[in-house]
Amino acid sequence: MRMISIYTDVAFEWDCQPTAMYVCLCKCVRDRDLRQAAEAGVRSFDELQQATGVSTGCGRCEDMAREVFEQALDPRPLCVQPA
Ligand code: FES
Repeated sequence: MRMISIYTDVAFEWDCQPTAMYVCLCKCVRDRDLRQAAEAGVRSFDELQQATGVSTGCGRCEDMAREVFEQALDPRPLCVQPA
């Protein structure tokens, strides 16, 4: 399986299916937990924090959590499969 890295630690397979990544170490929240919350109807970051606990500890994960959540609310391809 070939992998590429986008930004810091976000890894995607070539078919653009995201793999699991811990976004919030304080609360053990993964990127897929944030996407699942968005799919379940969470629409604000406050609601996301209540639903998952993300970014309710030290707060260092907030920028990444917001980025993952915003992507989940407006999914567009992050990579293009090479020819
Ligand atoms: S890493 Fe998320 S609150 Fe600390």
